[in-house]
Amino acid sequence: MAESTIRKIAVMTSGGDAPGMNAAIRSVVRTAITSKIEVVGVYQGYAGLLAGKTTPLQMSSVANIIQRGGTILKSGRCPEFHKSEARAIAGQNLRQLGVEALVAIGGDGTFHGAHLLSQEQGFPVIGVPGTIDNDIFGTEETIGFDTALNTALEAIDRIRDTAASHDRLFIVEVMGRDSGFIAIDVGVAGGAEEVFIPETLANVDQAIQAIQRGVQRGKTSSILVAAEGQKVGRSYDLAEQIRRKAGYEAKVCVLGHIQRGGPPTARDRILASRLGFAAVRALQQGLTNVMVGMQAGQVVPVLFKDCVNKKRRVPQELIDLAHLLSH
Ligand code: F6P
Repeated sequence: MAESTIRKIAVMTSGGDAPGMNAAIRSVVRTAITSKIEVVGVYQGYAGLLAGKTTPLQMSSVANIIQRGGTILKSGRCPEFHKSEARAIAGQNLRQLGVEALVAIGGDGTFHGAHLLSQEQGFPVIGVPGTIDNDIFGTEETIGFDTALNTALEAIDRIRDTAASHDRLFIVEVMGRDSGFIAIDVGVAGGAEEVFIPETLANVDQAIQAIQRGVQRGKTSSILVAAEGQKVGRSYDLAEQIRRKAGYEAKVCVLGHIQRGGPPTARDRILASRLGFAAVRALQQGLTNVMVGMQAGQVVPVLFKDCVNKKRRVPQELIDLAHLLSH
């Protein structure tokens, strides 16, 4: 593959923020500048790209951010970018700045836009997977997932203390609109009696059976984990169904956006640093229209067309394990 003599790139974060995005920005900036490539930061994702909200980034611009959650470049969702006219403006704005390629850090929606921008405008784009949902096809890990998982786990451990002290049933709701990765992993790690994920129908009867098995063994408290799915607060409906069917009163705790914030774990900082570095190297190698992802512990390029619009499934093995261990 031909080496590219790229001189100026842009970097942005888009979609829901995820802990470790700052570490990724830092890695992109420092890798690029070390290779004598200038870097421009785009604020607020695609919206900032359309509005021309940019800033030059130096080595010092990314000092003291590796430990910070959120994103110094800010983030957002941009429905306008669904239109090809908007993508044409974005291409124009980037070219006007003398930018030759874009590193887009975000999730599925971000990559969808990046894929179209690259295809329609012939503009080189590399994607870096950053979302707490861990639901990007083609990568086994996304930046922010490990931190969110550990935040949710800490919350569950705390709630268990209260559940045990008061002989209570709790439903803890975690994030995940379309995917149950946080729910299933935190369910296994936190010893949940049942896990509800968007990928499968909520089985209230199964949850009731799990609670009853516990009661028969002398257990006085239980924790159920539910991914929010399409409705934040769906756990209140689940609690009501359980009350009506079995008479158990459940307390609901919706963890919400606290799962998105906070300092990234070591694992997320390292992942972000590796992927940011790989994104710049990929551009230097002339790659475009790809995401840099993790497969079997290695960083690999994956064509956008092979990862956007595809669903990464929660492994059945984990679903079965969560169920088996609740016995
Ligand atoms: O970042 C992904 C995610 O956290 C989803 O799990 C969740 O449904 C969604 O973002 C909510 O984001 P917001 O409230 O920022 O739109």
